[in-house]
Amino acid sequence: MSLEYLVNNYNQTIILKMKERNSLYLFSITLVATLGGLLFGYDTAVISGAEKSIQAYLIKSQGLSSWIHGATVSSALIGCIIGGLISGWVASRLGRKKALFLTSILFILTALGSGNPEFLFFTKGHPSIGVLIMFNFYRILGGIGIGLASAVSPIYISEIAPADIRGKLVSLNQFAIVFGILVVYFVNWGIAKGQTLEWINSTGWRWMFVSGTIPAGLFAILLLLVPETPRFLALVGKYDKALKVLQKINGQERAKQILQEIKTTVEKSSGNLFAFGKTVIIVGILLSVFQQFVGINVAMYYAPRIFESMGAAKDASMLQTVVMGLVNAVFTVIAILTVDKWGRKPLLMLGSMGMAFGMFAIGALAFFKVIGIMTLIFIIIYTASFMMSWGPICWVLISEIFPNKIRGKAVAIAVAFMWAANFLISSTYPAMMEISSGGTYCLYGVMSILSFIFVWKMVPETKNKTLEEMESLWKKL
Ligand code: BGC
Repeated sequence: MSLEYLVNNYNQTIILKMKERNSLYLFSITLVATLGGLLFGYDTAVISGAEKSIQAYLIKSQGLSSWIHGATVSSALIGCIIGGLISGWVASRLGRKKALFLTSILFILTALGSGNPEFLFFTKGHPSIGVLIMFNFYRILGGIGIGLASAVSPIYISEIAPADIRGKLVSLNQFAIVFGILVVYFVNWGIAKGQTLEWINSTGWRWMFVSGTIPAGLFAILLLLVPETPRFLALVGKYDKALKVLQKINGQERAKQILQEIKTTVEKSSGNLFAFGKTVIIVGILLSVFQQFVGINVAMYYAPRIFESMGAAKDASMLQTVVMGLVNAVFTVIAILTVDKWGRKPLLMLGSMGMAFGMFAIGALAFFKVIGIMTLIFIIIYTASFMMSWGPICWVLISEIFPNKIRGKAVAIAVAFMWAANFLISSTYPAMMEISSGGTYCLYGVMSILSFIFVWKMVPETKNKTLEEMESLWKKL
């Protein structure tokens, strides 16, 4: 058999697979799942527009400290950690589809509740400790929704996606996250535009939260139209249903083949978390921790200050939103277009280098107390590097590297670590900046270099592999 024959044969199989595939259907159900990502972005960023009003209305009015203000702004993160932790249990008990539906309900509740924390127990216009507690309660509830969605949306997409475009489809979820962040900035801006500060502080901030019911409601309704994932259906022994979903996505012939492969992995392997060794779990955790330790969320908070210091004055935040929004979107698209061609590892390693370069440069400028256009350029280089690599691909890998039987539990552990690391970095940032701003950025630079070494040495390439092939990947290690 000649090499040419083999190549032609291989190409024909791929073309056949693609012809039979119902791309429109696949794309539509993927988009529904990415609404989980959109709400992840929306609900983490909504606070940025409402935070000053919360401070005036609920904190300062009662003479409470800035510490309580800080805790209130970040309380949702506690919920995110909880949501991440329970995601495995929820996604295995309810299934992926119902777990996503649960998040949509949590998103609706947090939107209504955070905007009306007085509901049932208190009177509007009379801020009290009780109202503050209820506000935090609803924010934590929303955080649980975010934590759950952050784990289950990528799992859902990964479990419906054909292997050759899985990276692309899961990366769409990161696009939805940054898009959600951008949308809520505009929504908050639209609500506050032309209004008096008094109105914003008493009423405007409520609408910012309540606006979340629109994407959340849409998510709940559209979820009724999507199927459960074939991998979950197979896990609970519903092979007929799994086959139907696979047929709808991949066509008759390919579906049978995939189901057979899934069956083998489901029946042969045990559901013990360490059934495939400790390495896979450690790799999952380190992917998560590094995605946060490189300092992305700090860069996102730091960007507005740079814009302010550049004297862009009143419109600074809008300018910043548009510029960073564009950088985020464009570079996430680069990842979407390349992740299945170039592979996960090269992109991650390239991103790590770009981030290290950006952070060391920002650190050096901070040492010399130079702030201005150069800092902004390096922040953009840093953020662009993250968006074309660790932003989307970390989620791609977390949703695909774990074998079918342990995916739910293992993703939950990784995602809980991700949110805990996010909390650690965000909460230590102000104190670290007081000690040394240059040193702080250089530390994130060091983390970026370590993330490069970690990917190089420990992360296997998963491009084009089916989820069923992941098992052999780990057994070999
Ligand atoms: C990260 C978040 C980050 C978001 C937007 C996600 O991949 O997990 O921590 O805020 O991207 O940059």
